[in-house]
Amino acid sequence: MMIYQGKDYKDLSEKAAEIIAAEVFMKPDAVLGLATGSTPIGVYEELVKLYNMGRIDFSKVTSVNLDEYKGLSPENEQSYRYFMNHYLFDHVNIDKSRTYVPNGLEEDSQKACDEYNQLIESVGGIDLQVLGLGGNGHIGFNEPGDVFDKVTHCVKLTESTIEANARFFNSKEEVPTEAYSMGIQNIMSAKKILLIATGERKAEALYQALYGPISPKVPASILQLHNQLAVFADPEALSVIKEKGLL
Ligand code: F6R
Repeated sequence: MMIYQGKDYKDLSEKAAEIIAAEVFMKPDAVLGLATGSTPIGVYEELVKLYNMGRIDFSKVTSVNLDEYKGLSPENEQSYRYFMNHYLFDHVNIDKSRTYVPNGLEEDSQKACDEYNQLIESVGGIDLQVLGLGGNGHIGFNEPGDVFDKVTHCVKLTESTIEANARFFNSKEEVPTEAYSMGIQNIMSAKKILLIATGERKAEALYQALYGPISPKVPASILQLHNQLAVFADPEALSVIKEKGLL
């Protein structure tokens, strides 16, 4: 595991974007696993800057996103498809027909999930997966539980996740209660993983994820078993790890 201690959010976003650019430089047809949420916005902004400087070419890149709310259309501003278009895809030369997000409009959960698993397989798996971290240790929408969910599945969102995500909606009631999410096996099969965590709100979860027991109670703790994990975090997110003298 490599931990990059960013000076601040901008610094770690720049460094993480450079890693992604290097991946695409080395493998122009890379499959990038992408995340939404507040955390990677800075990385996407930096990627757009790098693209405008001619330092990254997305023309052969494929992307697969971690998750999507069930019931939201791509046009819904709160959908993760909309988010990706807004922050990244609309501003770079990626072929949108090769950008994939689970189909939120598919009502048949089994079908939506099976199709997504097949899709990930058909593109040859993920070369580099970007992850944010939930305050409760979730990755994707893999919430704390008794078992690690393996592949793409339909998730009933926990109260804490609904509350955390309510800030993006007009009210808590508008937050969908279900989502389609890649499972732990999909994520762990990625060749490289880039976990980004910022802010004090993530400090305990980051400590538990990287140094706590490996348990489905903290889904991100499974990442300790990945042999190509790079963590990009700011001083606030690293505060508990530092307090414990682990860094
Ligand atoms: C988003 C995702 C989630 C977020 C996590 C952190 O695609 O899968 O696991 O990464 O909820 O969210 P933020 O970055 O908003 O704190």
